[in-house]
This record gives sequence, structure tokens and C-alpha cells, in this order.
Amino acid sequence: MPIPIIMDCDPGIDDAFSLAMAIASDELDILGITTSYGNVGLEHTTNNTLRVLDWLGDKTPVYKGIDRALLGPVVDASEYHGATGMEAPEIGPPTSVAQSQNAVMFMIETLMATRQKITLVASGPLTNIAMALRLEPRIAQHIERIVFMGGSTDYGNDSPAAEFNMLCDPYAGQIVLDADIPKIMFGLNVTHQVIATAEEVQRLRDLGNDCGRVFADMAVYFETVYKETYGFGGSALHDPCTIAWLLAPELFETRDMRVDVETTEGLSFGRTVHDIWNIAKKPVHTSVALKADADGFFELLRSLLIKLR
Ligand code: RIB
Ligand code: CA
Repeated sequence: MPIPIIMDCDPGIDDAFSLAMAIASDELDILGITTSYGNVGLEHTTNNTLRVLDWLGDKTPVYKGIDRALLGPVVDASEYHGATGMEAPEIGPPTSVAQSQNAVMFMIETLMATRQKITLVASGPLTNIAMALRLEPRIAQHIERIVFMGGSTDYGNDSPAAEFNMLCDPYAGQIVLDADIPKIMFGLNVTHQVIATAEEVQRLRDLGNDCGRVFADMAVYFETVYKETYGFGGSALHDPCTIAWLLAPELFETRDMRVDVETTEGLSFGRTVHDIWNIAKKPVHTSVALKADADGFFELLRSLLIKLR
């Protein structure tokens, strides 16, 4: 029985990997894709979502979400993903359009009407999900789990302490982390173990199809910052770790622990704080991914991309 999911994303190159993997998998039933501001502005992230789906011939409905954080300035990650968020010339302009319904209302209506609990897969700022929880708290009973890329148990990327998705909207992050809903967090501590090295990029190209070539090019496009800033051998494929866990949880080592977000402005603003020993004795609703089998991840990625164009 396919797992019913709603994907909330801010494409973004690594979000595009997640979309392709989810579309290729027979084990996931994507009920809808909601877009968020984040890597670039909401218009671009929505456009990029539509571009990927149209290029792959997928008809999943797309819903535009919120265009900024609950509080605070609009930030972006265009230095990683380019001005449009997905400079992939082979993936042309969209031929479809987003639904007229707002993403938050789509989430609420779908969750309140479902007979089977739905898994939310989030790979951008958590503003849409936080707003849905505030507007209709009863949706929590209809959510199987929130699988999200965000935070870190070690260092940040958009600040010394904070990961980009969480730093975009720390208040939304805390609202989601507080919710009595099972969650699994894929932070930088684990996504920085999933690096698209030159060897892995070549294996994508060796698939011999359009997806192999185009996703190899996208992985290379955003590797510069990773090589120059972190000294990595390639780009980090953050977001698709969420899909990989849904399809092959054995690829990751996880541990239940309380996670909160620093919402006091200052050096650690937006940092996730994980209480590995449960010292604060707060309710634990989150598992944190600590280790990734990178070879297994790329094997899964290739097995899915080869099924597409
Ligand atoms: O910090 C990495 C995260 O921020 C990824 O989801 C990337 O797409 C950006 O949204
Ligand atoms: Ca993202």
C-alpha cells in the first residue's frame, strides 16, 4: 500500500532531487506538493516545482504557500542555487500552473478529510506547516509523521549555529517541533554525509538517460560553495534524505531525542538544540538522523532516476 504524502518544498536543486525520487517511486502516493519561499522567492520555487513535474510528465497538483516567515526578513540561498533557484536549462519553463487554493488550506482540507494518516515531507522552511497547525490544530491527529530536512546537531550553514531552513523561520520550526506528532529530522549533521562526489556524479551520467545527465549537472552546479566553504568533494544532497528514509529507513541510524529551536535573537538564533540525554525532561516527539549510508543512498537514487525519462 503506497504511503500517502504531501511534499512541502522550496526548489532548489536538492528539493528537485526529492521530487524526482518521490515521483519515480511506486511506494509513495503524492497527494499534493506545496511550495514555500526559501532557497529563492515563492514565485521561483513554485515555478521550479512546476518545471520539474512538467518535465517528468507528472500531474501531481501544486499549491503555492506562504511567501515569507511568520516574523523576520526575507532571506534566500541563491548563492547556492542560482538566481532562479534551479538553473537547469534542459528543464524548460512550466507548461502547467499551480492550483488556485493556497497550500495551507489544501493541507488542512486534505488532512481533515483523510481516512488514512498522511506523512508530511518538508524540505524548506516550516512556515506552511506551522500555519496549518495554528489555523486547524486538529490536523495533528491526521498526520502520520513529519519527515523534515532542517536543523543540525552540530554546526550551521546559513549562520555559524543555524541551518538555512530553520533560520528562515525559527518560530515556525518551534511550532512544528512542539507539536505532538511523530517527526524525524534530517539535519546537516547527517545530510553532509551524503555528498555527490565526482564518482557519484559520473554514475548518474552513466545511467544514460535525461535524468542522469540533468541531475548530474544540477549536482555539479551547486557544488562550488560546498567545495570552497566546507572542503567537501561535492554538493550535499540534503532534501532527498527524507525520501530515501521513507523508502529505505535502513540507510539511516536515528535516535529519539527532544529538539527545540533557539528563538532568541543573537548568535544562536535558529539553532536546533537537541537534548540527547533528555536532561530537560521535555516530551520527546522527534527522532534525529545521525548516520547515513551514502553508498546505499546513491544506489537508491540511481534505481529511481533510471525509471524516469
Ligand atoms: O540547509 C539546506 C536546506 O536549505 C535544503 O533544504 C536546501 O534546499 C535549502 O532549502
Ligand atoms: Ca530545500
